[in-house]
Amino acid sequence: MHASSETAMLQSATPTTARSKIASVAQATRASITRTAPAALVNHFTPARLNYAAAMSVRLELITGENWRAALGVQVSAAQLPLVADHQPVALVILAKTQVVQGGGDWEPLAILKDDMLVGVVGIVHRDGKSFMENLAIDQQWQRQGIGSAAVGRIVSRCRSRGSNEVLLTVHDDNEGAQKLYGNQGFEPTGRRPFGDPEWRLILD
Ligand SMILES: CC(C)(COP(=O)(O)OP(=O)(O)OC[C@H]1O[C@@H](n2cnc3c(N)ncnc32)[C@H](O)[C@@H]1OP(=O)(O)O)[C@@H](O)C(=O)NCCC(=O)NCCS
Repeated sequence: MHASSETAMLQSATPTTARSKIASVAQATRASITRTAPAALVNHFTPARLNYAAAMSVRLELITGENWRAALGVQVSAAQLPLVADHQPVALVILAKTQVVQGGGDWEPLAILKDDMLVGVVGIVHRDGKSFMENLAIDQQWQRQGIGSAAVGRIVSRCRSRGSNEVLLTVHDDNEGAQKLYGNQGFEPTGRRPFGDPEWRLILD
């Protein structure tokens, strides 16, 4: 039954005090829908699920002496950790790679900021016309608000501006959320890396 006809039926069958309660609940519900609708619409209907509101205010900056403590504060859930890194904080893994992994000196350890709040981290490297993205993590309290999608958009722009023709990454078989996100952003699976996870690629124009 439609909610308004249900309310009308209830109103005709109930005494005045109950009616005024129903009216005030209905008013509160309407107010809450009005408050929440714009965000829901933005999330649902934007092209490639790109949340423009988030995209406007999401930016990348290098992890430096200024912001490294905040970067270490980025946490994913225990269930998500195996999808992104061996250890938390993920920023520590990214920073360690830049120091100890062969070729790590080329890595850009990046913080993801929304409205000047550090909410995520990622590592990228640009090499021979290709860019590789690793360890993308949005803090668990900031997920599902369009920030990951906006950050990937920013990362792709950064890779393009460094002269890359393609962006490559790997996604765990069980990571359906990330697969959806990358698919929405135009990435396509290319196959499995030797001894590794499936690789996804975005060709840049
Ligand atoms: C994957 C991750 C980066 C996504 O960041 P995010 O800010 O939550 O992503 P967005 O809000 O931009 O999500 C965009 C879309 O991706 C999909 N998606 C993202 N997370 C999802 C999840 N947990 N489950 C299902 N779909 C998901 C949805 O389609 C979502 O759109 P919707 O919210 O309108 O349904 C973030 O969840 C994260 O850090 N996860 C843990 C680490 C990880 O898996 N990193 C990726 C390694 S490859």
